[in-house]
Amino acid sequence: MQTNNPTLPDKTIGIIGGGQLGRMMSISAKYMGYNVIVLDPTPNCPTAQVADEQIVAAYDDMGAIKELTEKSDVVTYEFENVDLTAASYIEKAGKLPQGAYALEVTQNREKEKNVMQEVGLPIPAFSIVKNGAECEAALKETKLPAVIKTCRGGYDGKGQLKIESTTDFPDAIEFADEGGTFIIEEWITFDKEISVIFSRSTTGEIEIFPIAENDHKDHILYETIAPARISEVVRKKAMDAATLLAEKINIVGTFAIEMFVQGQDVYINEMAPRPHNSGHYTIEACNVSQFTNHIRAICQLPLTKIKKLQDAIMINVLGEDMDKALHALAHIPESFVHLYGKAEPKEKRKMGHVTFIGDNETELEALKQAYEEERQND
Ligand SMILES: Nc1ncnc2c1ncn2[C@@H]1O[C@H](COP(=O)(O)OP(=O)(O)OP(=O)(O)O)[C@@H](O)[C@H]1O
Ligand SMILES: [Mg+2]
Repeated sequence: MQTNNPTLPDKTIGIIGGGQLGRMMSISAKYMGYNVIVLDPTPNCPTAQVADEQIVAAYDDMGAIKELTEKSDVVTYEFENVDLTAASYIEKAGKLPQGAYALEVTQNREKEKNVMQEVGLPIPAFSIVKNGAECEAALKETKLPAVIKTCRGGYDGKGQLKIESTTDFPDAIEFADEGGTFIIEEWITFDKEISVIFSRSTTGEIEIFPIAENDHKDHILYETIAPARISEVVRKKAMDAATLLAEKINIVGTFAIEMFVQGQDVYINEMAPRPHNSGHYTIEACNVSQFTNHIRAICQLPLTKIKKLQDAIMINVLGEDMDKALHALAHIPESFVHLYGKAEPKEKRKMGHVTFIGDNETELEALKQAYEEERQND
């Protein structure tokens, strides 16, 4: 449990990206006494509301990155699409303990799949294509259904197209002709989706949170149940895969790996070098949250050993669910309502989340039902 040269309060933590993940990181950092500065183009963004200072600028504005680096003792980020030139600059200044490499791998699906393959983990069969003609050729060799995804910049199912049958080929080919690199992946008929979230220190200690089970609606995470209802065999495979990848990429901080479970098999889907939506439940259900252990890791403090306090269900609050969340806040005291301070409750926009904790599934189901029913009464 080495703590080389810990960054202690009231030192300054810089965060690139001012959304909800940055906000929850900042809340953790603030209660420990750190100073927080956020870089985000939107004034008064969710993170700025709970930080000491905001630099209002584009994420890849090198002048702003230099200012952030100068003003911070340690820098982190809330998303994987950080400009690599910016990341390398901060790393060279000795202020990016997470390093630029984890970003390089996770912001490009091709590199990500190659790393997974190198460590021998099972992943959906895939091919990489760069234009419509290559896509057409690859589709002839692909087992259907399949999915084509942009290698860069996709999230919440954006930048991908499912290919059910040959009638979808023209759309896929047109999609691949839009420029850039694409991945065509075999579709896995999974029993469930899970995520393994862990934090790793600069000295290689790893603390893994209880595995979460995730349910998506319209490609957006709707609900997380933790701990996931999976067999011991699956649990071990998922934990071993996470440990293997953590060491291969030399992860520092909180990291998430999304996986598909099919019978007793586990396929790795994708990775995120940051706290993850499916880990929000840790705020109430564990002795330490994914955000707090992240701050501890990047500040070179020893990680808190994770203990699950209760079981949990976390439900995302999208723009269209705002009334339901406000109703729960006002009428269901057992609901832990988190709202992110976003200005406009647009449809499908993540506005917040609600967590329920309990001793067992029955108790949690009752709370969830009360929450869902309240909406119908509104
Ligand atoms: N090969 C596949 N087989 C089965 N389902 C898939 C496959 N690829 C993607 N999906 C489904 O689509 C969802 C979104 O895909 P993926 O995680 O690759 O993209 P994303 O846009 O980066 O998502 P997010 O930002 O929500 O994590 C997955 O969680 C899963 O439900
Ligand atoms: Mg995903």
